[in-house]
Amino acid sequence: MTSKMIASHRVTEISKSAIHMMTALSSEMEDVAFLSWAKPTSDTPEYIKDAAIAAIRDGLVGGYSTTSGLPELRNEIVKKLQRDNRIDAAASEVVITVGAIEGLAAAIMAVVDPGDEVILPTPTYSTHIRQVVLASAKPVLVPTIEEEGFILDLPAIRRAVTEKTKAVLYCSPSNPTGTVFAEDQLRQLAEIALEHGLAVITDEAYEYFTFDDHKHFSIGSIPEMKRNAISCFTFTKTYAMTGWRIGYLHADADMIPQITKAHIALSICSPVVSQYAAIAALQGPHNCVATFRDHYLSARNLMCERLDNLKSVFQYHKPGGSYLMFPRILVEEGRDSIEFCKTLLQKTKVSTTPGVAFGPTGESHLRLSFCVPEDMINRAFDRMDAYFGG
Ligand SMILES: Cc1ncc(COP(=O)(O)O)c(C=O)c1O
Repeated sequence: MTSKMIASHRVTEISKSAIHMMTALSSEMEDVAFLSWAKPTSDTPEYIKDAAIAAIRDGLVGGYSTTSGLPELRNEIVKKLQRDNRIDAAASEVVITVGAIEGLAAAIMAVVDPGDEVILPTPTYSTHIRQVVLASAKPVLVPTIEEEGFILDLPAIRRAVTEKTKAVLYCSPSNPTGTVFAEDQLRQLAEIALEHGLAVITDEAYEYFTFDDHKHFSIGSIPEMKRNAISCFTFTKTYAMTGWRIGYLHADADMIPQITKAHIALSICSPVVSQYAAIAALQGPHNCVATFRDHYLSARNLMCERLDNLKSVFQYHKPGGSYLMFPRILVEEGRDSIEFCKTLLQKTKVSTTPGVAFGPTGESHLRLSFCVPEDMINRAFDRMDAYFGG
């Protein structure tokens, strides 16, 4: 008897990640210069680690916390949301999640029914697209305006709204483009959402990493959006806490019990040891955030300078935030970004991420990460200069 494949349509529909494919190829080689990392390379600051160790020693972390998280942590988050995001939050409107990712998954599950549509400005973080598919909803990809630095195309978003549209989901500062959506654009997006009764689910993972005159704005701070916004945040990037798996979301008090049902089914609660670490992160000195930001800014400037030498190969917009950028590949071979990245890796040992991994409008682009040491950026570009004759 032959057995049938047991996988659902929902997961089989999801294509294999081009990011993971490139990671696998790179790991088979030696001396690779990585411009494909998208996680902080710094370690978590010592004072955060010390607080976690103390919590373990004090026997505080062996059980679950309340599902929405430790009250002390939620109180600290309320202060942060009021101070840095201008979101007038209450502790009862905050849920501590397993990174931003689980918060987003819980938010999506709480908002959409099978067959509903979710508008995503693209190119965008591919995990968001997958999360919508996993909820049996339909991702509606609306291209951003690349010529103007990947800004929101608000008329196109308005045109994309149908009777089935339930939500708009975006990340700003953006992975992969580094664009920081401007306050006036987000206010117009809020108007569209309010007009059509849509949820706006945000991923604000890179909120502290903005440069020049770009400012992060939280759509959840608009008082009229109180019932429509679900804002997701994380400690991952801000405090270099990728592996601790801790984030949080803010939503209207009416939505919290609904989101919590999904959150419990997905995780019960966020890791308690990480919750103690997060309290320390918020109460402690915040110098690490400025240090990380300064490093990303100087790495961004270096990467842009080096790209200027390869003008015939790449055309780019200077990213206003995050630690990622998304140059267009001008040469013929760049039409297929996966093939381009593979060839680049084989010929130059430079690892990059194919743009198509971020939706079809990402094709003919590369995602480059500047959260790497500057000597890694120089090494990668020395090799590309030699290869392309820059
Ligand atoms: C836009 C964006 N959101 C979320 C995450 C992951 O967040 P977390 O570790 O908090 O789940 C990433 C990681 O690269 C990201 O780029």
